[in-house]
Amino acid sequence: MPQKPHLTFVVAMAENRVIGRDNGLAWHLGSDLKRFKAATLGKPMIMGRKTFLSIGKPLPGRETIVLTRDPSFSVEGVHVTSSLEAALAKGEALAASLGVDEITVAGGGDVYQQLMDRCDRIIMTYVHAAPDGDAFFPAFEHLNFKETAREDHPAGPRDDHPFTIVTYKRQINGT
Ligand SMILES: NC(=O)c1ccc[n+]([C@@H]2O[C@H](COP(=O)([O-])OP(=O)(O)OC[C@H]3O[C@@H](n4cnc5c(N)ncnc54)[C@H](OP(=O)(O)O)[C@@H]3O)[C@@H](O)[C@H]2O)c1
Repeated sequence: MPQKPHLTFVVAMAENRVIGRDNGLAWHLGSDLKRFKAATLGKPMIMGRKTFLSIGKPLPGRETIVLTRDPSFSVEGVHVTSSLEAALAKGEALAASLGVDEITVAGGGDVYQQLMDRCDRIIMTYVHAAPDGDAFFPAFEHLNFKETAREDHPAGPRDDHPFTIVTYKRQINGT
């Protein structure tokens, strides 16, 4: 019996937990977009309707699963689901057909909050800034996540701020 795929959150959060503003990002970090692509390519990716509309189209090389309660929502090339269970079931089916052991979650704040209990791994970009915003990443520091990798990045020519990428894995049974 194949194991359930891991659920990996991919997120960029500022020092005040802001992840977005006015249905967009609150910064430009060209270098971090590369990390986002590398983390999500070839895997099913779950996101909320607001995040999907802020991106505006399905990203190439990823099977996009959009959560919405709007029964009329339909976009070519996107899997539309109306509950967390349906999104996860679709993610599992797509992961099996793609031969991968991971489903990614690309936000936003609402969806991260609801799926945090099931999250196995977080690929976190800490943005070294504190911009105004209206979407936030939920608290996870009290949960049983262990840091497994960390990389500091100075701001490059296409970056508004320096940032640090940290990978966390959830510990199960003290492992
Ligand atoms: N920095 C980052 O890494 C990052 C990543 C992603 C997004 N963002 C930012 O975050 C913001 C968007 O986040 P958000 O929290 O406002 O919205 P969101 O999580 O992207 O989308 C929320 C929408 O998803 C649907 N939804 C949520 N839970 C559902 C459920 N259980 N069943 C069915 N549908 C469900 C609903 O759509 P309907 O209203 O259609 O029913 C809901 O309004 C934007 O500013 C975006 O740029 C930042």
